[in-house]
Amino acid sequence: MSYQQHRRSWAEPYKIKMVELLKMSTLEEREAAIDKAGHNTFLLKSSDVYIDLLTDSGTSAMSDQQWAGMMRGDESYAGSENFYHLEKAVQDFYGYKYVVPTHQGRGAEHILSRILIKPGDIIPGNMYFTTTKLHQELAGGQFADIIIDEAHDPESEHPFKGNVDLGKLEALIKRHGADKIPYICIATAVNMAGGQPISLQNLKELRELTQNHGIPIIHDMTRVAENAYFIREREPGYENVSTAAIVKEICSLTDGATMSAKKDAMVNIGGFLALNDEEVFDKARNMVVIYEGLHTYGGMAGRDMEALAIGIAESVDENHIHARVGQVQYLGDKLMAKGIPVVRPIGGHGVFLDAKKFLPHLSQDVFPSQTLAAEIYLDSGVRTMERGVVSAGRNPDTGEHNYPNLELVRLTIPRRVYTQAHMDVVAESVEEVYLKRDKIHGLRMTYEPKYLRFFQARFERIA
Ligand code: F0G
Repeated sequence: MSYQQHRRSWAEPYKIKMVELLKMSTLEEREAAIDKAGHNTFLLKSSDVYIDLLTDSGTSAMSDQQWAGMMRGDESYAGSENFYHLEKAVQDFYGYKYVVPTHQGRGAEHILSRILIKPGDIIPGNMYFTTTKLHQELAGGQFADIIIDEAHDPESEHPFKGNVDLGKLEALIKRHGADKIPYICIATAVNMAGGQPISLQNLKELRELTQNHGIPIIHDMTRVAENAYFIREREPGYENVSTAAIVKEICSLTDGATMSAKKDAMVNIGGFLALNDEEVFDKARNMVVIYEGLHTYGGMAGRDMEALAIGIAESVDENHIHARVGQVQYLGDKLMAKGIPVVRPIGGHGVFLDAKKFLPHLSQDVFPSQTLAAEIYLDSGVRTMERGVVSAGRNPDTGEHNYPNLELVRLTIPRRVYTQAHMDVVAESVEEVYLKRDKIHGLRMTYEPKYLRFFQARFERIA
């Protein structure tokens, strides 16, 4: 199936007012830098990076309107005007009743997990996310994957690889009982699956099933606008519905949300927990003062909340989201044309290289994605991120590595930051590494931190 065939070429719906100069480096400099970073792209200094595709998190370019909003920061400890703007944006664009600001997404995950999860609980979700799962485990719960099997297959062209397999969920409810499931966590534009959307039809069916069992749905809405855009493109009946209206419909089928505003909403820092249930909101509002800050700022400055309120509106603008996803698609198309194995369909926030296919001679025990990310950096100074066995961590009970089916390198595109020419340079670099893939050997882990090891682990080359 080919999506977006009808699409005319897109152009950035903005012009550039200020530029940040990039630093180029030599191969020798990059050799020294990646060695010093223990072959972990998270440990590189950004000043050693040319094109930074590590993440789309907090890396967006804010608009002139958002920067103007920064100047309207009301830095009062309590009841800042900007908080009320943020609250109104969450209510108007997402439809949730209550909002608790947090410093970023994991702050919201922490508070939610502490309130809703009891030891022994099961939290089903459409694929894990690193911080989300860890907070569930720290609260005594256990994550259970209920995404459709196609999501674990990089070659499946399923248009909604973020969908839930309702059969898997029913089996879980049968095995554990609904009272062991405090909520279901549904991500839009599922990050670890490659930025893959969930359909509204699937969400409606899920809603019906969970309502029958009295299980709430919590929405990881970090990339909801990208998901809504895919629904508009792919789901029958939604061709003429606006992205903004689809976003609101998605939210209306859920009971609350955690948000890392550093992605879709295009701010450099920020997040929130949104809720419809007053009782849970009361608990969250009480807990936020312990870990984040007062309930009207939760770790954000007034100016951050203002920029966020404006970014929420910009994120669902049709021209913005069309160009945003279009740019990711452009890079994906280029790589596919070169025969490079990528997760298909191309997702909303990045292109994901299939490291198992890219480096078929490497087993997961020598960390193919980690290796590939380091090699791409060496070739050109383009920084990418491992999303494979290192990110998947260890099984808390057995201590063994989790071996995910998806062994990926993510080329994550910041919003409104790079141009089409940058995408060309990136594609050429990946091709260069692909041509010499036979000469690439794996890595050995020399240091492993206890939590979220991918951030700080160190490696050395296997000779
Ligand atoms: N949920 C999803 C789907 C995410 O992608 C992230 C962060 C979080 C929650 C946590 O939010 O970072 O604001 O605390 N993802 C970043 C990434 C780190 O690079 O994908 P946070």
